[in-house]
Amino acid sequence: MWAEKIGKQLGHPTRTVAGWLVSRYLQVFNHILEESAVQLCGIQSGDTVLELGHGPGLGLQSAAKLLTEPAGCLIGVDYSAYMHQMASERLKACVASGKVTLHHCDVAKMPLADSLVDKVFHCNCYYFWPDLRKGATEIHRVMKPGGVMVAVLRLSSIAAIAAKQVLPGENWRPEAYMAALRDTGFTDVRMEDRRHKYITVQAIFATASK
Ligand SMILES: C[S@@+](CC[C@H](N)C(=O)[O-])C[C@H]1O[C@@H](n2cnc3c(N)ncnc32)[C@H](O)[C@@H]1O
Repeated sequence: MWAEKIGKQLGHPTRTVAGWLVSRYLQVFNHILEESAVQLCGIQSGDTVLELGHGPGLGLQSAAKLLTEPAGCLIGVDYSAYMHQMASERLKACVASGKVTLHHCDVAKMPLADSLVDKVFHCNCYYFWPDLRKGATEIHRVMKPGGVMVAVLRLSSIAAIAAKQVLPGENWRPEAYMAALRDTGFTDVRMEDRRHKYITVQAIFATASK
């Protein structure tokens, strides 16, 4: 039962004691994953960049610093009202200037135009999507032709928590997500080990072909 409770909070943190503890955990332990995702997606200063399931917003903060041209802009989506609010507070100045736009919505239904985004990144997020193909279809829709997506995870940690029934079903498996990406129009889909600072992470790369 505790496993299910933690899993629910990881997948959708709420403004409760458990949700606050999860948000602290994400800020302390996932910061490095967020940083590596930002680095691996190869952001250019004038890009339009999207982060899915941004949680507390540390990855958004790193990405925003790279978008130095006036055209460069950052979009974040998260369906947790608590995380949306936490990230909005963290990115207050960038949101006020229009550099960053945050949407409180589901990855499977984003209020974004077709072919808008150059780069997409996300960390520890796809495992919670009930339908990976729906999510991948929507990401593909909003990406420009040739746009690059990177999803970062630590497979050993994810497999360990999945074995404790903290994650629902089998969607945590990278093969499941990569199959969904291939089925929905992404090419060059691959997973690579990448060293970032003192840890090795797994990065799933995909290119939006159109
Ligand atoms: C485990 S947390 C990871 C947060 C952050 N990326 C990190 O690594 O610290 C997963 C986040 O994804 C969000 N999320 C999960 N499924 C989502 C969906 N279908 N649409 C939007 N956000 C989602 C959750 O609300 C939560 O903030």
